[in-house]
Formats: sequence, structure tokens, C-alpha cells
Amino acid sequence: MARRCEGGRLVVASHNPGKVREIGDLLRPFGFKAVSAGELGLPEPEETGTTFLENAELKARAAALAARLPALADDSGLVVPALGGGPGIYSARWAGPEKDFRVAMERVQRELGDRADRRAYFICALAMAWPDGHVESFEGRVDGTLVWPPRGSRGFGYDPMFLPEGGTVTFGEMEPDAKHQISHRARAFAQLTARCFGHRNGAS
Ligand code: IMP
Repeated sequence: MARRCEGGRLVVASHNPGKVREIGDLLRPFGFKAVSAGELGLPEPEETGTTFLENAELKARAAALAARLPALADDSGLVVPALGGGPGIYSARWAGPEKDFRVAMERVQRELGDRADRRAYFICALAMAWPDGHVESFEGRVDGTLVWPPRGSRGFGYDPMFLPEGGTVTFGEMEPDAKHQISHRARAFAQLTARCFGHRNGAS
């Protein structure tokens, strides 16, 4: 039985304002007030894990301990089996110091060359930690293939080159709501909310 968390203040263990906003929106219907690790002045731990889950857990644990509040962290990225799993946990780093994802997508395409296997998937690991050290973690995944050239200007990161399985438009071309129905992040969140959170406000 997973440990449950019933509303109140919750730390979003990220210094990325976009991620904090997105997670805050997802948490609000469950009665949580999201405060970011940045707002609380918490240090940013080094992501020394070798998996998405390890990195999400270490970020959540560090924030919960420092803030003495429950904390939620996510770690996500693109995995390309033909590239030995890369960029994987280094997905953000492939964009370089300028965080330019055109550069990151070009690197993926260059390294794939003319390989026939263009399968890829996005992973999102979510970890919820309590100040006593207890952690619950979840992983969501969406499978697809990589297209070139990239298509669409919506979304972020590697979205314009990711065509989800069974689809005709890339994540970069998709309406945000449509992406949120099937994304790795939505799938991980669905598991987290089912196991750790109470009902949505106003829902039975
Ligand atoms: P993190 O902030 O260390 O978890 O890095 C996540 C990185 O993975 C992002 O900077 C993106 O490059 C990539 N990524 C994760 N989720 C998505 C997505 O939904 N679309 C596109 N790229 C994503």
C-alpha cells in the first residue's frame, strides 16, 4: 500500500520555472500548494544517478529533508535504442549550455545516420519523498519513432522529431491537450495520483 499525501504545501524539487509551473498546475486540483525548491532557497543536488528513477529519487529526497515537507521531483528524457540508450539521462545536456534543442536534435539525427532503426521513447520518472526518508516512485513511457526534418513548433525539447506510435503528427505539431493525454509525464502522473493523492477537489 503506497503512502498517501492529502494536500497542503508540497515542494516541487526543481529549479526550472517551466517544470514548476506545469507540475503546480497538475497538483492544484488535488488541493496542493506547490512551492519550488528555488523559492525555498534549497540547494540543487548533483544528478549523480545512472537512471531516471535514481535521479528523481535523489532530487525528491534532498528537497524533502531540507524543507521538512513532502517533495515531488521528476526526471525525464528521450531514449534511442539505436544510440545505446542515448541521450537518455543526458537529454538536457545534449542541448549544450545555450539549451538549444535544434542542436540536440541535429546530434541525434547525425548519430543515427542512415540506420533503419529509428525507434525512440520518452521516459518520465516521478518520485515523491517525505521528510522521514520514505519515497514512492513511478515511471511513465511513450513509444514512437524519430522523423527528420523536425516538424512543428509546439511543445519543447525533442518534441518536433518524435512521432508517437500510431500517430500521424509529431509531439511538436500536436495540440498540448492531445500530448497531455498520452505523454510519458501524464502516464507517470496518473500512477502517482492514483496511489498517493486523494480525490480531486469537487470530484466524488
Ligand atoms: P531533466 O530536466 O533533467 O529531467 O531533462 C529533461 C530533458 O528531457 C528536457 O530538457 C528535454 O530535452 C527532454 N524531454 C523530457 N520530456 C520531454 C518532452 O515531453 N518532450 C520533449 N523533450 C522532453
